[in-house]
Amino acid sequence: MNTPARLIAVEGIDGCGKSTQALRIGKKIDALVTREPGGTKLGQQLRELLLSPDHDPISLRSEVLLMIADRAEHVESVIRPALLRGQHVVTDRYAGSTFAYQGSGRGVDFDALKMLNHWGSDGVTPDLSILFDLPVSVAIARRKDAKTDRVESMDVSFHERVRHGFLTLAHNDPQHWAIVDASQSLEAVSKDVDDILAERLGLSL
Ligand code: TYD
Repeated sequence: MNTPARLIAVEGIDGCGKSTQALRIGKKIDALVTREPGGTKLGQQLRELLLSPDHDPISLRSEVLLMIADRAEHVESVIRPALLRGQHVVTDRYAGSTFAYQGSGRGVDFDALKMLNHWGSDGVTPDLSILFDLPVSVAIARRKDAKTDRVESMDVSFHERVRHGFLTLAHNDPQHWAIVDASQSLEAVSKDVDDILAERLGLSL
């Protein structure tokens, strides 16, 4: 590998197609593909607690702390070891999702989130976060047949706030974010992603 190991996060509202792209990118650049919440054994249990519609609602503070706990475990036992051995990592969601969902979506104070995220992730930040942006109505139509989890079953205005939150994060930090129009065809989205990886990280294969 002639480029340093990179951490790439794919982000966006539910139904944006980021998981398909995470797998595709992973194959292309021979990266470890992982996800949040749920990228570790502990994380799988946290994911179940956080997202299962069968559990009682949990308090907002607990939700934030569990997302951060998931990230802490993920960084410590999966992400950092991979980067240290020289392997690229593609994570399906990372800190951007906490700011967009818990911050913009649910109204948790951003400074608190920044502090908790920084501590939980031990300062490990993506080299690039790719936002797969599309209108909420299109994402909902795409997901119509999928089983919905607790977060996804929130109302449309919640998902609008989350989308806007992601766009604000990306616009405020263009050095670390790229935006892809995810309402395009799969081929067009894939081409945009490949161009971004080549231009921004020198990852052309
Ligand atoms: P995801 O795994 O993308 O859903 P899918 O079941 O479609 O694969 O995401 C799970 C949910 O977790 C998603 O609705 C967003 C939410 N989430 C947060 O609210 N905050 C976070 O910090 C993270 C990482 C995810």
